[in-house]
Amino acid sequence: MVSPVEILSREIEHHLNAPALVRPCTDPRLGDFQANGVLAAAKQRGQNPRALAEQIVTRLSLADVCEPPEVAGPGFINFRLKPSFVAQQLRSMMSDERLGVAPASPAETIVFDFSGPNVAKQMHVGHIRSTIIGDALARVARYLGHRVITDNHLGDWGTQFGMLIVGWNRFRDDAALQRDPLSELERLYREVNARPELREEARAELVKLQRGDPANRAIWQHILDLSRHAFDEIYEKLGVRFDFTLGESFYNPMLPDVVKELLDCGIARVSDGAVCVFAADQPTPLIIQKSDGGYGYGTTDLATVKYRVENWRPHRIVYVTDARQQLHFKLVFATVRRWLPNPPHLEHVAFGSILGEDGKPLRTRSGENIKLRELLAEAEERALTIATSKNPHLPEDQRREIAQVIGIGAVKYADLCQNRTTDYVFSWDKMLALDGNTAPYLQYAYVRIRSIFRKAGLSVVPVPSQLEFQDASELDLGKHLLRFRDVLYDVLADYKPNWLTAYLYELAGKFTAFYDRCPVLASPEPTRQQRLAMCQLTGNVLRTGLDLLGIRVLEQM
Ligand code: ARG
Repeated sequence: MVSPVEILSREIEHHLNAPALVRPCTDPRLGDFQANGVLAAAKQRGQNPRALAEQIVTRLSLADVCEPPEVAGPGFINFRLKPSFVAQQLRSMMSDERLGVAPASPAETIVFDFSGPNVAKQMHVGHIRSTIIGDALARVARYLGHRVITDNHLGDWGTQFGMLIVGWNRFRDDAALQRDPLSELERLYREVNARPELREEARAELVKLQRGDPANRAIWQHILDLSRHAFDEIYEKLGVRFDFTLGESFYNPMLPDVVKELLDCGIARVSDGAVCVFAADQPTPLIIQKSDGGYGYGTTDLATVKYRVENWRPHRIVYVTDARQQLHFKLVFATVRRWLPNPPHLEHVAFGSILGEDGKPLRTRSGENIKLRELLAEAEERALTIATSKNPHLPEDQRREIAQVIGIGAVKYADLCQNRTTDYVFSWDKMLALDGNTAPYLQYAYVRIRSIFRKAGLSVVPVPSQLEFQDASELDLGKHLLRFRDVLYDVLADYKPNWLTAYLYELAGKFTAFYDRCPVLASPEPTRQQRLAMCQLTGNVLRTGLDLLGIRVLEQM
């Protein structure tokens, strides 16, 4: 299926020979879509934009698609879709299990690098955002037909292991380790860190580990297994899966060659005893080997790009981390572009911080980092209270199931609906509200649609042979449904899941307006069938859209 934007763009571009730049109108009174491309094209050619727009408009053959287009302002063209066209498009969307979303062409291979928690530590809020945003972007890309590879770049190697091994040998409490491994590992680190007299011992243990000492390797492996188990519990709760989990340790054997190659081809040079790559526009270099011979985070990232390129041949690699890593990725990307022939597109998708209601970075009342596990448990607990007050008669396991879907959905949605580049304030009450731009509101809208079908004693309705819009709200809903495809492409183009949340929120609002004004089950045929089909399509778009955000729906709540 071809979307209205594509149809309009193709026709305009055929006559304009320049990008049409078709966007939905911000003011619906002007029309449904606006093309802005004439302005740039006219400017470039030294023509009068309004005259050019008027000339183009007379040539467009879009009589089946829209009312006669209107030239506005300095040279915009406004389009209003014909109801007959909307009806025809909706009917093909209804009969398409992909909901009218044609796969991207050409399909790309895209690696999504997200989550990447550091072992022996709780995931901090930055990792939560990375996990939720990265997962949603990967889902959208996959839905659009790209070959998607998700890779969890665990921080499982580094100088902290010297301290951890000393702590493990001297202070380990096995019972605590079993109860809450990450907290115990954090405690071991703190115990050693608080004792300067153990520094030397930690350094020696680290060297032993790096040389492959079997006892220290075994401790490292044990710490890794415990951490991964704890992370997996969280991924399981969040419904997040990775195709690969190749942590930093995986690349460790490749690091000497990376440094050698970069020195040999003259991209790196020794400066103050360290091996550095200087970028023309950056004051600080990327250090790929420290003066003590150790390698760093950046060296590992270079080896990682090379490995991915050689093994997966990606067109794009997308890194989802907090904004503080901007400089790191700038330096890594600049190095890759000089180093590898035909490098893939490298994108750093950065996001802001989660703040507490006091406007400071989110912490517990006693000032510690929030444990993700506890945060998710609290979300479910709070959602259970709400589910119980709404459905006191439901059996407990059913209420718990509802609470899990709502609680986890609320946390994810609260994150995804933000413009990712800005900080946002974390608020339980806001995210769990049943009205407003929240997951529970959308999940509830879906439940309402399903209950219409339950009442009608139907599970699905066939595609109607005709669709008529008797009320403006019906046509309005229909036009919004047709935008689904474009929104998904926008999400991937800008790496912004909040385009999709905003779309779904608006969809639920337009559905409510339609449902308030247009009787469904009480209407005579064929209106009843047609309206049921509109309800069904809305439900399918809501469910699919939420699924692409990693949020589940319920049949009842
Ligand atoms: N472990 C890193 C951190 O906690 C995130 C890893 C991001 N991915 C990467 N390829 N550098 O900040």
